Amino acid sequence: MKKIIFYAFCLTAIILFTNCKDKNSVSLNQNEQYKTIDTLQEIIERGAYLVNSIGCDDCHSPKKMTPQGPIPDLDRRFSGHPSDEPLYTIDKNNIGPGKWILMNNSLTTFVGPWGVSYGANLTPHETGIGNWTFDNFKTALREGKYKGLKDQRMLLPPMPWQNFKNLTDSDLRAMFEFFKTVKPIKNIVPSPIPPNDL
Ligand code: HEC
Repeated sequence: MKKIIFYAFCLTAIILFTNCKDKNSVSLNQNEQYKTIDTLQEIIERGAYLVNSIGCDDCHSPKKMTPQGPIPDLDRRFSGHPSDEPLYTIDKNNIGPGKWILMNNSLTTFVGPWGVSYGANLTPHETGIGNWTFDNFKTALREGKYKGLKDQRMLLPPMPWQNFKNLTDSDLRAMFEFFKTVKPIKNIVPSPIPPNDL
């Protein structure tokens, strides 16, 4: 009887050991797949793919008007609301809760119950995000903080940072690396206007 128990014990030990070994070797193999380190070029391409698909141009690139509607002006891509473009007259009777939200033709100025907000300069110029660290970028996109600094104000609508907060670190890193490669454009985007100052 003792022998049977002993053999049963040995068998269980062998099964457990083999299983562990199997699992380890499977995960090692999987790790091996992920061991390939992307080159910077591949990371930038992934960033371009994400930025293009998510549509950061919509509010961050000035537009050219075409018969089909506004398209991004690639010469000024991601430079934000042009500082020399005036704020057109706003009829205050049309805005406020339950009324209209306005946009200019470039889709870089937005008027609503929050006042006036302007699409930011995302180019790697110092007037854009040229001096930003990756941590600043992450804080802006994940926590909706102006300049990517935790002690700054919340970003205003319609910046949809709530949609971006679940992007992985590696996706955000890829997007940041991509923005570093676009043409740096000097453009100091105007400060937002609070609703009472309109
Ligand atoms: C629907 C319009 C819209 C879209 C789409 C959009 N943004 Fe924005 N974004 C804004 C506006 C407006 C602001 C300025 C908000 C403010 O001043 O508080 C802003 C601000 C920012 C800021 C902060 C800049 C600063 O100086 O603090 C970053 C970074 C940013 N956006 C990145 C992105 C990225 C990256 C994408 C695409 C993944 C994107 N945005 C898509 C409208 C948009």
